[in-house]
Amino acid sequence: MTHKDQDDAKADPARIVEALKTVAGDPPGVRASFAKGWCVTGAYHPSPRAHEVTCSPSFTNACEVLARFSVGGGLPAVADTNALVLRGLSLRLTGDGSRSDLLVENAPVHFARTLDQMLAFLRARAPGADGKPDPERVRTFSEANPETLNQARYIAARPLPGSFAGVAYWGVHAFPVTNAAGVSRFVKFKLAPVAGEIGLSEDEARALPPDFLRADLERRFQAGGVGFDILALLDRPGDPVLDVTTRWPDEDEREAVPLGRVTISQFADQAACDQAIFNPGVLADGVGHPPDEMFAARLEAYVISLARRRREGSAARAPD
Ligand code: HEM
Repeated sequence: MTHKDQDDAKADPARIVEALKTVAGDPPGVRASFAKGWCVTGAYHPSPRAHEVTCSPSFTNACEVLARFSVGGGLPAVADTNALVLRGLSLRLTGDGSRSDLLVENAPVHFARTLDQMLAFLRARAPGADGKPDPERVRTFSEANPETLNQARYIAARPLPGSFAGVAYWGVHAFPVTNAAGVSRFVKFKLAPVAGEIGLSEDEARALPPDFLRADLERRFQAGGVGFDILALLDRPGDPVLDVTTRWPDEDEREAVPLGRVTISQFADQAACDQAIFNPGVLADGVGHPPDEMFAARLEAYVISLARRRREGSAARAPD
């Protein structure tokens, strides 16, 4: 396939996974995105107000939590001091016969509005013969697609996270929710750290080892665990619910209903997180699928990435 044919190929979840892997240099057997991470467990306790927003059993009852803190990008060896990549948190809330997976990251917006734009964004950053993306190609793409810089600008305007426990995370999409009275609306999920924001200066970051975030979690678990309040930011008529590259107007000032608190208290076997996916599509009744095209693509992309890392993982282990 020529370069031109590749650029013209229609975007689909398989091509997106391929492009994510290419940008990262194709490390085998690992996630296409958020490849570095730590598997942990804890518990969720609902707030008395959760039922105002949703009838979901996952958010209105106490649940067990399997979770994974992660660092963005497709490289498992990325340094925790890298200020250009995201921090992620995947949660699986499991209750009596119910399960919901909520995947959040430390930016309120995604870097592409459509699948075509996401594929083009990634392809513009594919490494060339020297192992680096062509800055001219990235610049040309960015000028023609300014909204694809919103996420990087958000991250760049904030200090480097000093702890997985000291950063706010967002679900990014607009999720349709329905409460027990049958009233439906859209919300955005925000996880607010109980410890408050913990940021590092550049000097502080320089002094830290590449895996300092795991050591930080270890210390916090010994001191009793780390907590997040799950907030539902309420929509207003006219909010752009299909565009994951923009925030809602006055989003930071929205009424935020506390759904409950997640407390993460210990590390788990990595296999508990690596052998399957945190599946954005698994949501118990009361929280629906966001209507934008990026969410729909995620449903397939995560399964494709899992199949690939399973294949490559077992190939890597097989004798030659
Ligand atoms: C828009 C908001 C998004 C958020 C908040 C988000 C968050 C995350 C998180 C936290 C992970 C790590 C999962 C884990 O811990 O196992 C992840 C993995 C991944 N994401 Fe996303 N993501 C988003 C959008 C997308 C989109 C649009 C695509 C592609 C169409 C995508 C493709 C992937 C893939 C392929 C993985 C690896 C899955 C695996 O191998 O388990 N993500 N994402």
